[in-house]
Amino acid sequence: MARGIKAVGLEDSPGGSGREDAPGRVRVVPRAVRVGLLGLGTVGSGVLEVLERNRADIERKAGRGIDVARILVRDPSRARAVAVPAGLLTTDPRDILTDPEIAIVVEVMGGTGVALQSILGALRAGKHVVTANKDVMAEHGPEVWAAAAEGGADLFFEASVGGGIPIVRAVQSSLAANSVRRVAGILNGTTNYILTRMSRDGLSQEEALAEAQALGYAEADPSADIDGVDAARKLCILSSLAYSTMCRAGDVYRQGIAAISAQDIAHAARMGWTIKLLAISDMQSGRISMRVHPTFVPLGHPLAAVNDTFNAIYVQGDPVGEAMFYGRGAGALPTASAILGDLLEAVRGLDRGGARTSCPCLHQWPVDPVDALQTRFYVRLLVADRVGVLAKIASVFEHAEVSIMSVLQSPVSQRSHPDQAELIVVTHAAREDRMRDAIEGLRHLEVVAGVGALVRLAPEDL
Ligand code: NAP
Ligand code: HSE
Repeated sequence: MARGIKAVGLEDSPGGSGREDAPGRVRVVPRAVRVGLLGLGTVGSGVLEVLERNRADIERKAGRGIDVARILVRDPSRARAVAVPAGLLTTDPRDILTDPEIAIVVEVMGGTGVALQSILGALRAGKHVVTANKDVMAEHGPEVWAAAAEGGADLFFEASVGGGIPIVRAVQSSLAANSVRRVAGILNGTTNYILTRMSRDGLSQEEALAEAQALGYAEADPSADIDGVDAARKLCILSSLAYSTMCRAGDVYRQGIAAISAQDIAHAARMGWTIKLLAISDMQSGRISMRVHPTFVPLGHPLAAVNDTFNAIYVQGDPVGEAMFYGRGAGALPTASAILGDLLEAVRGLDRGGARTSCPCLHQWPVDPVDALQTRFYVRLLVADRVGVLAKIASVFEHAEVSIMSVLQSPVSQRSHPDQAELIVVTHAAREDRMRDAIEGLRHLEVVAGVGALVRLAPEDL
């Protein structure tokens, strides 16, 4: 029987059949592909919304119908952003994982419990998996890739980094011929939204986070965003792809934005900077270093203009030089864009046979701690406002071998702290471990009432 693709009306063909579309010419209408959806929250609803809105075009590109056959949720009685027939919902992952008719599983539930087990089960059963789950990809990469190899299945995870930005496939495929030296940028939409709302609109961190949660940008446990865990996982995924090695999220040095206050934002602006949570991964002489931390970025730098939930990622490599990727890093629809692009890839692969994706594990490069990195720091201190205090503080920096570039003193609210002052110290480039010693020394100093945010200045070669 001749093989072929029906160009229109694919939604009519759940079973696949031969049709005579011209006298004597029979075209085979491929069966609609059955998809199991794990999760119907922010992202899952976005996926269904976009699939319905663009169905005709998506199915033409896929060459067959796409039938979301079953949807896993925790609570079937919950109100949903999209209407789905109640019969599609299930609370038992086995309804999807053991259904031989389901060829592709889309996982958008999150976490590393049921989600991980479902991904592993689906891959081992030979079902292709599309996931938005950075926790699973960054914490359980080797296990997941082994399951994919065992089942001969494909694994797609574009939505796990950068929301709607096509960065995973770019690093995985388009830039594969490069020797990548650095991957750096803004990888978390929630914290970028929070820092933008604090800087631009004067919101408190708590108010801005509440907004980000209401808009569906934050993780189920938002401390993953605030503490830099989410950005660290994404950096780990990109580093794995960029350097063809299996990075572990635990190898990423991490500092979140919890300590960043309105004062830090105001001081930054006065000095010509804005604060961004940057993720930076460097490869030098076969050694990797990875870090996520709040960073002062000069106002004229392109990253300073990346606001709200937008993400931006630089990839520096040879021969490409520098490539920058920019777009919405969180939210239902941008993430659905990445998921559906992956779903199309998975569907197109069905007829080709054999898995096309594989573990980025050609090397096992060592990962350096950040201790030896040279960085310029800003630290805000609350100190006693009396004679001799500056000398004591300077001696702690001297002892730690950290050279001070500038010190700025500003009085704090007279009413609440009549005898205290705020000191803003900016250092010359210093080793991370030396600065850690200095901070430890300052905490033990009797004249220091509090050590506020520690913010690094962006590397000069960024
Ligand atoms: P969400 O709104 O909390 O939705 C999670 C969905 O999964 C819900 O429908 C929930 O069911 C279901 N679910 C969770 N645990 C379950 C369990 N044990 N058994 C059955 N169903 C379960 O989360 P989301 O924001 O859509 O995020 C989903 C994934 O996408 C996460 O991995 C996240 O990191 C990733 N992601 C999110 C974004 C974003 O902007 N939100 C962007 C990129 C990637 P109920 O509805 O019944 O509770
Ligand atoms: N919570 C994540 C973020 C969702 O804000 O970036 C997108 O991965």
